[in-house]
Amino acid sequence: MNVTVLTGGTSAERDVAIASAVQVVGALRSRGHRVAVVDTAAGFVPERDEARALNATVGATPPSIEHLVGLERGVLLSSLATLPVVRNADVLFLALHGGRGEDGTVQAVLDVLEVPYTGSGALGSALAMDKDLSKRLFTLAGVPTAAWLMAPVSRATISDRLGWPVVVKPSKQGSTVGLSIVKHPDDLAPAIELASRYDDEVMVEAFVPGRELTVGILHDRALAVGEIIPRHEIFDYECKYTPGMAVEIFPADLPPDATDQCQALALASHRALKLGGYSRVDFRLTPAGEFSCLEVNTLPGMTATSLLPQSAAAAGVPFGELCERICQAALARCKVR
Ligand SMILES: Nc1ncnc2c1ncn2[C@@H]1O[C@H](COP(=O)(O)OP(=O)(O)O)[C@@H](O)[C@H]1O
Ligand SMILES: [Mg+2]
Repeated sequence: MNVTVLTGGTSAERDVAIASAVQVVGALRSRGHRVAVVDTAAGFVPERDEARALNATVGATPPSIEHLVGLERGVLLSSLATLPVVRNADVLFLALHGGRGEDGTVQAVLDVLEVPYTGSGALGSALAMDKDLSKRLFTLAGVPTAAWLMAPVSRATISDRLGWPVVVKPSKQGSTVGLSIVKHPDDLAPAIELASRYDDEVMVEAFVPGRELTVGILHDRALAVGEIIPRHEIFDYECKYTPGMAVEIFPADLPPDATDQCQALALASHRALKLGGYSRVDFRLTPAGEFSCLEVNTLPGMTATSLLPQSAAAAGVPFGELCERICQAALARCKVR
């Protein structure tokens, strides 16, 4: 196959996207595919420049908003269509995370081009990026999710409807960027101010104590359930991207019926948002044994040690094969259309 990997972009998760691309490119090439790379913020990356262009390391904090705004000026989304490596690819592999790469914008541009691309379509991507809409659809599908309110909201309403602590987060972000746990009502306003730097819609959600679980979905089937034990109180940016800052256990140590239930809820969440190809569904599991769906990631991290690849590996699908099956799912989805 001729695969063009789209990566980079201008979201807060740009560095993570590049880390995914490096490994996807290597895995697909080692399986005999011809692979080209495009940074959606900078353009086509010739193979001789890949080592330099794809050397982003993921730091303990995301790139600053100012840095990302600078990149936004050079944005190339509207001219993607003019690139021969995009138009002539058999499939476009989206090694993009967050922002326009994951929210349906890139997907809508690619729908117009009629080139098959990996992951979910424009509508599903947009629904999954919007945590408020996602949670409404989870609820309709019978998938449990924590109670929530949208800002602006008074402290009295929060005390009444959610209790404390709460988690304040941008409705459309990722990588735990702009998210805070608020234990005391006095800390609500600064948390909302922080979240609103990343999205004009801010969510206030009941804090769910307990364990953190994640389940990969591939070809409409649930892969292995994994447990994440972060060093910090929550699975924050540093714990997500710094080796050694979280213990990740695949498969999770759960009774068989809890594993089955978690996989069934993961698949129901994936379908509720009308997702395609693959995704990764995140849950909390309370000490009382109740699951609560946090969100579905339509373009989860794709380094060989990222959570979806671990979930796949524990289900018998090694990384190279996973990358290839994600491409095949894209071709199958486009045939259906
Ligand atoms: N309601 C909640 N209760 C407990 N922890 C939460 C809650 N919401 C988020 N978290 C913690 O914050 C992390 C990131 O939250 P999430 O909603 O998945 O946003 P993101 O899209 O940034 O990953 C979760 O993995 C979890 O550790
Ligand atoms: Mg998450």
